[in-house]
Amino acid sequence: MSSNSAASSATNRLEGRVAVITGGASGIGECCARQFVKQGAKVVIADIQDELGQSLCKQIGSDETISYIHCDVTSDSDVQNAVDLAVSKYGKLDIMFSNAGIMGKSDGTILATDNEDFRTVLNVNTFGSFLAAKHAARVMIPAKKGCILFTSSVAAVTCLKTPHPYVVSKHAVIGLAKNLCVELGQYGIRVNCISPFAVVTPLAKTALGLMETEKEKIEELVSESANLKGVMLEAEDIAEAAIYLVSDESKYVSGLNLVVDGGFSLTNPSFEIAMKNFHAS
Ligand SMILES: NC(=O)c1ccc[n+]([C@@H]2O[C@H](COP(=O)([O-])OP(=O)(O)OC[C@H]3O[C@@H](n4cnc5c(N)ncnc54)[C@H](O)[C@@H]3O)[C@@H](O)[C@H]2O)c1
Repeated sequence: MSSNSAASSATNRLEGRVAVITGGASGIGECCARQFVKQGAKVVIADIQDELGQSLCKQIGSDETISYIHCDVTSDSDVQNAVDLAVSKYGKLDIMFSNAGIMGKSDGTILATDNEDFRTVLNVNTFGSFLAAKHAARVMIPAKKGCILFTSSVAAVTCLKTPHPYVVSKHAVIGLAKNLCVELGQYGIRVNCISPFAVVTPLAKTALGLMETEKEKIEELVSESANLKGVMLEAEDIAEAAIYLVSDESKYVSGLNLVVDGGFSLTNPSFEIAMKNFHAS
């Protein structure tokens, strides 16, 4: 399938903005870091994959535009340091993109869900998002402006037999985004969420149990299940959505969960499948 790269030709949509991107060393976060810098932002990548994060920064730009900090989003002091680095190095924080996430190890059934895995997934995906928002709000409230953006998932919009810990953690993120939108509006802070369908990243490969499978093969599988045909969802499409939600283009948008799924979550093939089986029998 040919690339349907969404990268907009418009530039400087984030000129002068300073962003922290958690989980920015890989996948969707990595792509967003590249695109944010391309659009004029200064970016702090906050992740636990230190080598990857550091080499990515060298590829993307100079110390003037992009930095890496080791930040486990489940650690209050790590998240505090990431926000403080943005402020000390680049002067302020305009954008907190809380994107770090893990799928966990459980399968889709309640009886096989491991208690410790449940805690771990909620700790990273939900508690980590809370800490990101809390430390961002600490500097955004006095500044009376800012954007907080979360990555949730299509798994929080429709049911895919995704493991319970992941689904619960991503539902909670949408709830957090909405509650924060209401609380922080008085300070001019916008809070939004993006819920992507499948993008072939390390997380998606793990989730599908296809770690060693070629990207193209996984894309074929994903596009088979997609509602919108003829295009493939790419990390760039999520970056485009993110840029929209953290730029002035969306200056009156807050409390939105932007579902980037080509209509997948609106489809329910059960009846069609049952009818096909009925006619085939
Ligand atoms: N890829 C998809 O199909 C898809 C679909 C819907 C939602 N998402 C969400 O998108 C986000 C990004 O995932 P991705 O697909 O790019 O996966 P990815 O594995 O490529 O990237 C996730 C990043 O988060 C980092 N991370 C994990 N635990 C962390 C921690 N404790 N502290 C700091 N960083 C940590 C990882 O090191 C990694 O760099 C996640 O929140 C994921 O749930 C992904």
